[in-house]
Amino acid sequence: MENPRVPLEPYKIKSVEPIRLCSRRERETLLEKGGNNLFNIPAEKVFVDLLTDSGTSAMSQDQWAELMRGDESYAGSRSYLRFEEAVRRIFGHSHVIPTHQGRAAERILFQTLVKPGDRVPSNIHFDTTRANIEVRDAVAVDLAQDLAYDPDTPAAFKGDMDLERLSNFIAETPREKIPLILLTITNNSGGGQPVSLANIQAVSRVSRAQGIPFFLDACRFAENAYFIKTRESGQAGRSVLEISQEIFSWADGATMSAKKDALVNIGGFISLNDASLAERLRNNLIVSEGFPTYGGLAGRDLEAVAQGLEEVMQDTYLEHRLAQTAYLWGRLHEAGIPVYSPPGGHAVYILADRFLPHIPRHQFPGQALSVALYREAGVRVVEIGGVMFARTDKKSGKEVFPPLELIRLAIPRRVYTVSHLDYVAEALIALKEKAETVKGLSIVYQAPHLRHFTARFKPVD
Ligand code: F0G
Repeated sequence: MENPRVPLEPYKIKSVEPIRLCSRRERETLLEKGGNNLFNIPAEKVFVDLLTDSGTSAMSQDQWAELMRGDESYAGSRSYLRFEEAVRRIFGHSHVIPTHQGRAAERILFQTLVKPGDRVPSNIHFDTTRANIEVRDAVAVDLAQDLAYDPDTPAAFKGDMDLERLSNFIAETPREKIPLILLTITNNSGGGQPVSLANIQAVSRVSRAQGIPFFLDACRFAENAYFIKTRESGQAGRSVLEISQEIFSWADGATMSAKKDALVNIGGFISLNDASLAERLRNNLIVSEGFPTYGGLAGRDLEAVAQGLEEVMQDTYLEHRLAQTAYLWGRLHEAGIPVYSPPGGHAVYILADRFLPHIPRHQFPGQALSVALYREAGVRVVEIGGVMFARTDKKSGKEVFPPLELIRLAIPRRVYTVSHLDYVAEALIALKEKAETVKGLSIVYQAPHLRHFTARFKPVD
């Protein structure tokens, strides 16, 4: 068949992990015990888990086979050499530094490069990136275009950095206060939208003209490259590998969470050209993560990353991956559920404040919707709105809310089938019918950083 109505899984299931829908009563008790925070729900009590696409991929038979080849030598392991070669083939930089996950790469890079009072621009910083900058007493600055915050206008590359904002930012910030420019591909905190090759080139030219290092936050580079292949003019005839190689050739370095587009459950790395910076990063790595040929990972983990990086760039894999996301998006959109347009690469985002218009922002409609969806159907998603990103304004003491109040339905790679996606869509459609019964929430406990992981909430009557 030429154009099947549903995305056909390009794999068959060889090993299964049972899942079970627990009773509504049990789910209600768990929500109460867990302070209405889905991070506190035991995973066994979740039926379809769309909390994250990070570290939740199903590995292939070849990745499992590679695990047996893991060389667990402390120094100079063969697995490191294979990993380094696999990363270099795509990223092209001279130095490859393994870390146990993405945020360790961020921490090591920022501890080395970022000073108190610095300002680090990005399209939109992901939460761990922002936190790793802020713990340095520096400022994370988002320079996405207005379009990124406009959920209704579909466009090909809503993840692009706004070039005028970037040049204004550079004009008004002393050069020594900008340690690097970062670009997140795809833009996870902005609807999972891709960044165009043209934008990557333009940001790179600005950074080179100014002598500012340019890094990519590359977690979802293969999805981004496939969007470039299918949406950007002149790119259709190139392979995802060629496009990826070009993407990274424009950057001085990258941080990577291998838990996304390396199709593994743990891992990360930094890739870069600057030899003296690489040496400083390795010194930090030895103190905090491990020797530079394993960086907090087992040899077998490095093998799985190397294999995953090859598989993730296959057209059959990427075509299905993006079709799956688009399919779930389409079912929700068709049913009148307010969704961010167009669908992202790894996730569908729902506009929670429109889904629950009776709940004001300070009662966290995103959190309320995610809790209601778990209560209804045992489906777990994550809030990306006021809980994750609201700030207290230092001058006025008022809470400033982010432009969008979203819940994110992140799709783990190669894990769920169309029936699971249909189940999620149907649960949301049913919930929409009784949306007015969902109550807002107030916070009863929060931590000083990344509060969404541990905050506790109670319903507002
Ligand atoms: N950068 C981006 C764009 C991310 O999405 C993530 C993680 C990280 C960095 C950090 O990587 O988890 O390996 O330390 N995102 C996950 C998510 C947690 O659910 O979106 P990590």
